[in-house]
Amino acid sequence: MRDNFAVCKLFTMENREIHAVTGAFGYSGKYITTRLLERGVEVITLTNSPNRPNPFGGKVRALGFNFDNPEILAKSLVGVKVLYNTYWVRFNHIDFSHNEAVDNTLVLFNAARIAGVERIVHISISNPDINSSLEYFSGKARLEEALKQTGLSYAIIRLAVLFGEEDILINNIAWTLRKFPLFGVFGDGEYRLKPIFVDDLARICVEQGALQENVTLDAVGPESFTYRELVQTIGSVIGRSRPIVPMPVWAGRVASSVIGYFVDDILVTPEEIEGLMADLLYTGAAPLGTTRLTQWAMENKDTLGIQYASELARRLDRGKSYERG
Ligand SMILES: NC(=O)c1ccc[n+]([C@@H]2O[C@H](COP(=O)([O-])OP(=O)(O)OC[C@H]3O[C@@H](n4cnc5c(N)ncnc54)[C@H](OP(=O)(O)O)[C@@H]3O)[C@@H](O)[C@H]2O)c1
Repeated sequence: MRDNFAVCKLFTMENREIHAVTGAFGYSGKYITTRLLERGVEVITLTNSPNRPNPFGGKVRALGFNFDNPEILAKSLVGVKVLYNTYWVRFNHIDFSHNEAVDNTLVLFNAARIAGVERIVHISISNPDINSSLEYFSGKARLEEALKQTGLSYAIIRLAVLFGEEDILINNIAWTLRKFPLFGVFGDGEYRLKPIFVDDLARICVEQGALQENVTLDAVGPESFTYRELVQTIGSVIGRSRPIVPMPVWAGRVASSVIGYFVDDILVTPEEIEGLMADLLYTGAAPLGTTRLTQWAMENKDTLGIQYASELARRLDRGKSYERG
């Protein structure tokens, strides 16, 4: 099939490299794209949401993923030198699933290989494990292995938790602290997280896009927190220090479901709670990110958590931007 694409140019008319980013109108993809454009690279995006507001104007062309038509997908990638893959789904839902995301990503990797893409920078999760009972972690492990098998040059960037303007988890902790007189944590709240700032992640991805070596990196920031400390820190920064109450997991799940009902979202899934409590969002790796969550939260304390940020709204309304939570 590769021969069908007779003209496989790696440069545009202006002799600029073309890079492809998935989800450039979303969260991490937007920051990666911004940094690539600053470097003078031409960027195209593959997205499920071509009608979301395009913050880059005419500078970034949006193409559908076309997972169900691998030939079209491969054609979209002809001429692309580096592919930055952020595509994944956060949880299983009636409309999407981890299994489907794994299958689609395999189609994407294969299309990239056929199209002659040279390198893939792939975003993964901390502590992926092919034998994990948690599909998020086993699916990501499968994809890491599949990427290595493509024979393409790769950088696998494993992260635990992101924070930034369009964030969900950190924002919604702040939102809960603003709305309720106390904050319940699952169990003792002593499990750990190591968040990274979204633009630090973007810098790492773009740096890796310019290299050739096959690498697997843990991309974590300079601060680590227990979940309880994270809630305490955010509460203190936004001026809403609440009593933090340990809760049995079942009670935390009920509370999350009730809140979810009112905000029309899935706040957290049982699998996410299990992964969090198993310390899977923590690694002891040296920080590659430099931005401290505490400092960033201070700078954003007036807007952090003012509005609830809904995962489902982002999925169901594909014409809206990821507005500030
Ligand atoms: N956010 C975090 O805290 C976090 C933590 C650990 C790991 N990660 C990893 O970081 C990567 C990027 O995350 P992100 O938060 O930046 O993602 P995002 O921008 O919200 O989405 C990235 C891409 O995946 C697509 N997508 C997301 N959910 C989907 C769904 N349910 N159905 C169909 N397509 C969906 C988006 O579609 P559109 O093109 O339609 O926008 C976009 O192309 C992912 O691989 C994730 O596993 C994120």
